Amino acid sequence: MRLDRENEALVEQAKAILSLNWTGEYTQPGPRLYPHQWSWDSALIAIAYARYDRGRAEKELRHLFEAQWTNGLLPQIVFNPRFRDYFPGPSFWNAKESPHAPRRYETSGVVLPPIHATAVLAIYEAAGEDAREFLGYAFRKLKAWHEYLYRDRDPRGEGLVYIRHPWESGMDNSPIWDFIMQRMHLRAEQIPKYERADTHAVSAQDRPTSAAYDRFAYLVKFFADRSYDEARIREDCPFLVQDVLFNSLLCRSEKDMAEMARALGEDPAPFEARAQKTARAIEDKLWDEEHGVYLDYDLVTQRPIHVYFAANFSPLFAGIPETSRAKRLVDALKNDGFGLSDENVTPVPSYDMHGFGFSPVMYWRGPVWLNIDWFLMHGLEDYGYKQHADRLRENIVGLCRREGFHEYFDPITGRGHGSDMFSWSAALVIDVLLDRKE
Ligand code: GLC
Repeated sequence: MRLDRENEALVEQAKAILSLNWTGEYTQPGPRLYPHQWSWDSALIAIAYARYDRGRAEKELRHLFEAQWTNGLLPQIVFNPRFRDYFPGPSFWNAKESPHAPRRYETSGVVLPPIHATAVLAIYEAAGEDAREFLGYAFRKLKAWHEYLYRDRDPRGEGLVYIRHPWESGMDNSPIWDFIMQRMHLRAEQIPKYERADTHAVSAQDRPTSAAYDRFAYLVKFFADRSYDEARIREDCPFLVQDVLFNSLLCRSEKDMAEMARALGEDPAPFEARAQKTARAIEDKLWDEEHGVYLDYDLVTQRPIHVYFAANFSPLFAGIPETSRAKRLVDALKNDGFGLSDENVTPVPSYDMHGFGFSPVMYWRGPVWLNIDWFLMHGLEDYGYKQHADRLRENIVGLCRREGFHEYFDPITGRGHGSDMFSWSAALVIDVLLDRKE
């Protein structure tokens, strides 16, 4: 994108935010609400660092990879011992119950979507041979991470991995999970005792309700009670979902692993085969022909979840659909409450604006998230929808220029909400503006 004086200044501001949130080892997602290291935030942030500070890009991901479990699980959160009053903290997670948890780090016991291979490839593409040593190191870590997912989260070898907590989707409070949360009947004695930290930092109205939080906490305790033994967890876990975004990012990451394997003189075939298998499974099992969208799949009821969510267009980012399906997706983005062709909407609302329970300000129930826009922007571009891609690109930049680097934005008013000085919003602005291809 053109770097005029105004945009140059915006890049400098974005860099300043990342520096402010940089701890010397990793970047905090947001200064108050999110003090620890979050896995997919770090990957998105590293994509920006790859463009101007390779040292930090590598450090960021090394710090995450060092906390990887011995079974390959890459944790959602790596805790910073300096911040003790975060909920749920290490003592609630009890990750050390697992024989696989790292000894030197405290972590949570769930994961976040796998976009790390895409970040590592971006670092290598920007730095070339200078990043070779890092590439070799990261490749081994990523291999173990993806093997964990396919081994422990896809026991029937379908090519689709499951998530077992809303937090694993990265979209904690999405209406996709409502039905599952509703059917989890909890008795008073089953609700763990806890005190939330999030509502002290931002408006409680925008955040998940306490009934949702009770269930989040219940699931955490459920895992800890089973010592994070995946076979025991999946026996009767009330939440087991094959999520479109998670599997699409995994598919894209496997393709990126194949690229890395080529660069390292290793065999790319196993990665290509897995990418293909996952792509086919997404096409066969998660596509909804009637509505022309992809849907998450509930493994407990063995049914698709009929919630129309922006992240469910992410197979475009992984190059999965054929062109005719891609066209149907674009039609839905234009016409079905995602505002891609509507000048009165800031696209893309995370949830269908005509969807039941849509809210322009509530966490993951309607606001625009820049990472989702960034995935869709790339997907639309790759499929030749340049004009739509450009609108999203301008959106990412324009929202932050007008409102500051917020966590999410109201699609109707354009106002920023949630954490201010949010790192991945700053990172994606940098990535978009320093992309010389534009
Ligand atoms: C929230 C988001 C999640 C993100 C985390 C840190 O939990 O839902 O996607 O990783 O915040 O930014």
